[in-house]
Amino acid sequence: MFLTNDEEAILAGEQGEAKRKSMELLLALGKIYKAEKLVPITSAHLSGVSYKTIGEGGLDFLREMAKDGKVSVKSTLNPAGMDMHRWREMRIEPSFAERQIEIVKLYCKMGVETNCTCTPYLAGNVPGKGENVAWAESSALSFANSMLGARTNREGGPGALAAALLGKTPYYGLHLDENRLPTVIVEAELEDQLLDYSLLGQVVGMKFGAAIPYFRGIRPDVNQAKIMAAAMAAAGSVALFHVQGQTPEASKFDLKGVEKVQITRRDLEDAKDKLTTSQDPDLIALGCPHLSETEMKTIAKGLDGKKKRNDIEVWFCTSQRVKTWCPKETAVLERFGKVLSDTCMVVAPIEKTHKVTASNSCKACNYLPGLCSQKCMCRSTEQLMELIL
Ligand code: F3S
Repeated sequence: MFLTNDEEAILAGEQGEAKRKSMELLLALGKIYKAEKLVPITSAHLSGVSYKTIGEGGLDFLREMAKDGKVSVKSTLNPAGMDMHRWREMRIEPSFAERQIEIVKLYCKMGVETNCTCTPYLAGNVPGKGENVAWAESSALSFANSMLGARTNREGGPGALAAALLGKTPYYGLHLDENRLPTVIVEAELEDQLLDYSLLGQVVGMKFGAAIPYFRGIRPDVNQAKIMAAAMAAAGSVALFHVQGQTPEASKFDLKGVEKVQITRRDLEDAKDKLTTSQDPDLIALGCPHLSETEMKTIAKGLDGKKKRNDIEVWFCTSQRVKTWCPKETAVLERFGKVLSDTCMVVAPIEKTHKVTASNSCKACNYLPGLCSQKCMCRSTEQLMELIL
């Protein structure tokens, strides 16, 4: 991979150890993927935040990088293993909390914004069409590629951090026009509810793995797009999709010869049944990806004036920023459960406190069994709220 004189100097350690290590890492990635050069980025979104997922090894790596590392571009952070303020209410052990707080402080020291959320695009990190970025977090990067027309590969935590420190990323994969072409046309008719979009993502991810779907017959709003992107990235490894008449690049493709498939209601129902392994949740968790302001408002409106009838715990996961935008709705939701920010049901250690989690998110239902030893119940938001009323 070609390096400029400045990049060679960084590799020789002239700008410190964190940047040298970052350059080494990007060079190795660039060689694997046959990138011809590095390309400047306008933002980074970093995963590898929860102590549960990165452990002592990850914490040591961050301690090293934070000694002299500073990000060069706007950089945001994925959810941590706990609400940074309400961790005691989540029954998080103090030893876990201590390490989690250190992790977030280390990112902060490097200049990363610590509004820990998987929906950075709802909270100020909004790349424009054609901008090269380096985002980790599979749901967020798919949203950025698809709905915003930005360009990022499916970065891992260390690669995204290295890119953030250098302000550059290897130029390959989805940064290039020729790798952004649709590989399958997907036709579906959905009801206008979130769960349907999540299930569509689940079915497409399961059937096509790492495809680039081109959807016809749907027109997802932001909330529907984010939950569909999350499911597709979790059930498969979809990092980019197009929607006819909607997404920024959809009009420029010649679709002649591209395979076409129809997703039926039966497919969606089957997917829901497969993800449901219990009917008896002790936790209902909404907000995968993190709830937007409109979702907070819609759920609060549906619950306002009603009474909770049982003790099933409910989590509404969102970002600190969205929470501050809707104080009234937060107060309503707090009568039914906890409005948690900075964290989510998958990266928090819920295996220590819960056994069965119900969610409207197929991404959550994909990951909860393996990462949190949970049985799952996959239902719509409305059905989940009925369980407590
Ligand atoms: Fe976000 Fe956690 Fe889901 S990071 S996309 S809420 S698994």
